[in-house]
Amino acid sequence: MSTIILGIESSCDDTSASILKDGKILSNCIANQDAHRLYGGVVPEVASRAHQKNIIPVVDLAIRQAGINKQDIDAIAFTKGPGLIGSLIVGVSFAKAYALSLGIPMIEVHHMQAHVLAHFAEQPHPAFPFLCLTVSGGHTQIVLVKSHLEMEVIGHTLDDAAGEAFDKTGKLLGLDYPAGPIIDRLAQDGNARFEFPEPKIQGLNFSFSGLKTSILYFLKEELKKDPHFIKNSMNDICASVQARIISILMAKLKRASRETGIKEIAIAGGVSANSGLRKALQENAARFGWNAHIPKIEYCTDNAAMIAVAGYYKFLEGVFVGQEVAPVARWK
Ligand code: KG4
Ligand code: ZN
Repeated sequence: MSTIILGIESSCDDTSASILKDGKILSNCIANQDAHRLYGGVVPEVASRAHQKNIIPVVDLAIRQAGINKQDIDAIAFTKGPGLIGSLIVGVSFAKAYALSLGIPMIEVHHMQAHVLAHFAEQPHPAFPFLCLTVSGGHTQIVLVKSHLEMEVIGHTLDDAAGEAFDKTGKLLGLDYPAGPIIDRLAQDGNARFEFPEPKIQGLNFSFSGLKTSILYFLKEELKKDPHFIKNSMNDICASVQARIISILMAKLKRASRETGIKEIAIAGGVSANSGLRKALQENAARFGWNAHIPKIEYCTDNAAMIAVAGYYKFLEGVFVGQEVAPVARWK
């Protein structure tokens, strides 16, 4: 008998639904919210209202694209947290109502664990144990992955996340939100000729807030000399900032590999879509004999396929939750 999981993701500004059959993705539909572009960041109340509008059409589309009937679904996996509470409430409430009406069990999923498990959406899967650099808009972690459900965070950011460093730099440069993909594109035609300091943080932890401040002061100084500095040097500024963010991330990843002796290395989360980071991982893999795992772009940024995959492994272990479940904005 086959197992069909409906995955639902609504932790930030994307509403997504996915159908997974026996571990294989049949559909992965995402409604992006353009409304936040105007504000230079995600506005929680706007996000939660957009989720309410999008969730039924997105789930409906995922079911139709997968070519199944809703009665075929065996369980509903949903993001319980971490994320924006108003956004999470929409997904969790929908999952509860839908599970109740179909008479099927629910599976709660940790958003960051799902980013890691996105690697199991397609072959080849990483072998256990592996290290996963999980870099998103809200988190920056090095995760020691022991099994599908057993993970240990061995390094994390002490302040801003890597995605936040991209987005806040974009704001200083007058770019739209989210700035990560825009900086990535502009950096491709730039020369990383500006030096930004590397933070001195002990162990496997990260810090990005100093970088943001140094970029701010750098721009102020340069704009005094040339009021058109940003416009004239946009590509080089983007290339320089991106190079520094990548070097900070890779330095800790190398250290983690050295300290644990693990050479099975993965990246995940929205920032793992960055072309420079993907290239840096491949270069380091060749240099240090790593077996590198880089997810397809559609599994890097927020998506419900990763929620369905995480749900599938919990389903196999029989780990379900009841109707009393509630979303958690900060979930360790
Ligand atoms: O995982 P994600 O979609 O959402 C969260 O869970 O936060 O990550 C979003 C983050 C944003 O900060 C966005 O700017 C960044 O990922 N991002 C990128 C790229 N694509 C998305 N950063 C750098 N380069 C990219 N190509
Ligand atoms: Zn995410």
